Amino acid sequence: MTKNSKKQIDFSAIAPVYDLLGALFFGGKLHNSQLENLKNIPSKFKHILVIGGGTGKFLKELVASKQFEKLTYIDISPKMIDLAKSKVPDTKNIDFIVGDETTIPDHSFDLIVTHYFLDCFDQTEFEKIADLLLSQLCAGGYWSMVDFYIHPKSTWIRKVFVRFLYKFFKLTCRLETKELPDFDLWFSKNLILKKDVSSCKKLLKSSVYQKSS
Ligand SMILES: C[S@@+](CC[C@H](N)C(=O)[O-])C[C@H]1O[C@@H](n2cnc3c(N)ncnc32)[C@H](O)[C@@H]1O
Repeated sequence: MTKNSKKQIDFSAIAPVYDLLGALFFGGKLHNSQLENLKNIPSKFKHILVIGGGTGKFLKELVASKQFEKLTYIDISPKMIDLAKSKVPDTKNIDFIVGDETTIPDHSFDLIVTHYFLDCFDQTEFEKIADLLLSQLCAGGYWSMVDFYIHPKSTWIRKVFVRFLYKFFKLTCRLETKELPDFDLWFSKNLILKKDVSSCKKLLKSSVYQKSS
């Protein structure tokens, strides 16, 4: 058992159709926004952490394009973990963990991947989890961050769309979060921005950060 209040979140019900829903709502842009960061990180890592990794669609690409000694893949949904396992041909260097931020093994990582994961939390929870992840990122390590983004000057349509997404995830996955945390504020304070690419009319942001050495 994990100690986290977010334990009630359960993406298992939508796990089998998660990628299909993403394609229907965003026509491949969600996946492409994640692939974008693969171009902007090194090709070799010692120990990668992917948290809130979901169905493993991105994991498949990560494994195919990068070398690593070990990869830890954590998701709170057992169904998501099963799907992710089925996506990779060879799982011998990969530890799949059904768990959350409280069950991250006590290692340091040279790449941390949070894609459409940190939006599951309110500002306080996000900062707590981000602080924890940062403490396990080694000096000079990379952080691949992809998520929704509401620019202060964004049109109301985008804000309404994000609210609609939160309502959808509340109904289907019991997600209680109502609005996006201010990711930029925390990341700009704690890490060095290496590359920032927006897509889908600036609704999606793919960022690569590095911890100072
Ligand atoms: C919106 S989905 C994103 C999945 C994937 N990263 C992607 O972009 O397709 C969020 C994922 O985070 C997982 N999740 C939510 N809260 C979690 C937590 N506290 N610890 C680990 N995983 C969590 C969910 O089960 C779900 O698979």
